[in-house]
Amino acid sequence: MESIWKMTAQKPANKEKLDRTEAETVVIGAGMAGILTAWFLQQKGNDVIVLEANEVGSGQTGNTTAKITSQHGLIYEKLIYNHGMQFAQLYAKANEEAIHSYQKLIEKEKISCDFERKPSYLYTKQDLHSLMVEAEFANRLGLSASLVTETELPFEMEGAVCFEKQAQFHPLKFLYALAEKLPVYEHTKVLKVEGNTVETEHGNVKAANVVFATHYPFVNRPGYYFMRLHQERSYAVAVEGAEPLQGMYLGIDEDGLSFRSYEKYIIVGGGGHRTGENPFGGQYENLYGQAIKLWSGIEEKTRWSAQDCFTLDDIPYVGKFSKKTPDWYVATGFRKWGMTGSMAAAKLLTDRILKEENQYEPLFSPQRRLVSQAQKNFLYDTMYSGIHLSKRIIKPAKGELEDLLPGHGGVVRYQGKKQGAYKTETGEVFLVDIKCPHLGCQLEWNAEEHTWDCPCHGSRFDYQGNLINNPAQNHIS
Ligand SMILES: Cc1cc2nc3c(=O)[nH]c(=O)nc-3n(C[C@H](O)[C@H](O)[C@H](O)COP(=O)(O)OP(=O)(O)OC[C@H]3O[C@@H](n4cnc5c(N)ncnc54)[C@H](O)[C@@H]3O)c2cc1C
Ligand code: FES
Repeated sequence: MESIWKMTAQKPANKEKLDRTEAETVVIGAGMAGILTAWFLQQKGNDVIVLEANEVGSGQTGNTTAKITSQHGLIYEKLIYNHGMQFAQLYAKANEEAIHSYQKLIEKEKISCDFERKPSYLYTKQDLHSLMVEAEFANRLGLSASLVTETELPFEMEGAVCFEKQAQFHPLKFLYALAEKLPVYEHTKVLKVEGNTVETEHGNVKAANVVFATHYPFVNRPGYYFMRLHQERSYAVAVEGAEPLQGMYLGIDEDGLSFRSYEKYIIVGGGGHRTGENPFGGQYENLYGQAIKLWSGIEEKTRWSAQDCFTLDDIPYVGKFSKKTPDWYVATGFRKWGMTGSMAAAKLLTDRILKEENQYEPLFSPQRRLVSQAQKNFLYDTMYSGIHLSKRIIKPAKGELEDLLPGHGGVVRYQGKKQGAYKTETGEVFLVDIKCPHLGCQLEWNAEEHTWDCPCHGSRFDYQGNLINNPAQNHIS
């Protein structure tokens, strides 16, 4: 099934045949970060092209929930505690400005993308204290946060924090409208970047600047993003038959859900987990089951899932790719808040490339100092990856291929070898190598999606081994 956005937007045709060998800037990736960056560069007269492995918006941007907000879960107390008042203030300001920038751009370009200003709420059924603290810190940073005890949601809660004048839109209608006015080359996968040469499936392009807007950067060294990014997936269902919501919502409790409306649909999101940790599935059933308890008589229209990159310290990496590559830039690590994040990133990268000042550079710099929380996360992630790497080598498979039930997948022993196997309902078997082609961790079965997912850095493959998500670059055999 596809996202409600893919079902309700008409994708324009883009260029497919790479007819350029030079450009001032090559942006790799036509998601929200890449398209916005190319847009602002082009507006300022830069000769920019976009190279996209698949199609415009086919990555996470086509599967988002598209709330445009500075309310990023419980973040402000944490930011103040870990980074200090000044960084927290910059973070709030960058994201508030991003909301205004969307509105300005949409109005100026007359983009019909269902952009609406809406209040955004964080709600809790059990932890009012955390919400009160968040509201207090958000207000100290100049955001306007108020506590309420009731909302339109049809269940009781202890309270909610409301940020007024946030926004939501249709991400693909917006993205397609911009992409139509840009030189975007679809089905043009970048295989390698060597200095200022971008090597693609269809030829090379020389560029003064290269922007990696590929969601997860696929170059391992330099940059070492694989040591400081992990990915988390979550799930969404769009249901119809209930009164549309006036606000946007996110629960802060362990089992908290995300809600927003699009036209007659309510989108219910949740079930988040680190990529590679969903062996039993059931996420969609759980979401739909919760939705129908809230609004009896609803029907499911569609369901989909997506994943996003998480940095060590909760702040995206936007700026210079590495100290060794002065002409490379990156935008990643949006922590499921990549709508405002992409807008802030696009403006920052445009300024950097055009050598203009940008006050948010130190905040987002990928070379920033690791605060102590980030150091702890670094140790955890390194240990976690080590475990999944050695698991493949040391740990034997639990069962034999014959033990696998129809419709199920898992790591099995077959012909004396540990392999990934999926048995269809009709008994057809698909075997794959469970060694992730990125850095060799053991792939794990995702029962929800019938995919092989890597717990280390989040690469994903279908049950036949075809690559779905970065950072891996190759299929598995
Ligand atoms: C379930 C979920 C809900 C979310 N909801 C929200 C929300 O409500 N609000 C919000 O602000 N954020 C939200 N986010 C986050 C947001 O969707 C993402 O942060 C954002 O879409 C990321 O955009 P991107 O451009 O970085 O990546 P993408 O949209 O994934 O774009 C990257 C592009 O790069 C291309 N690419 C990759 N490798 C190559 C290559 N080698 N050569 C050429 N092209 C390549 C890919 O094909 C892809 O099209 C959500 C995320 C998830 C997972
Ligand atoms: S994604 Fe890095 S090892 Fe699999």
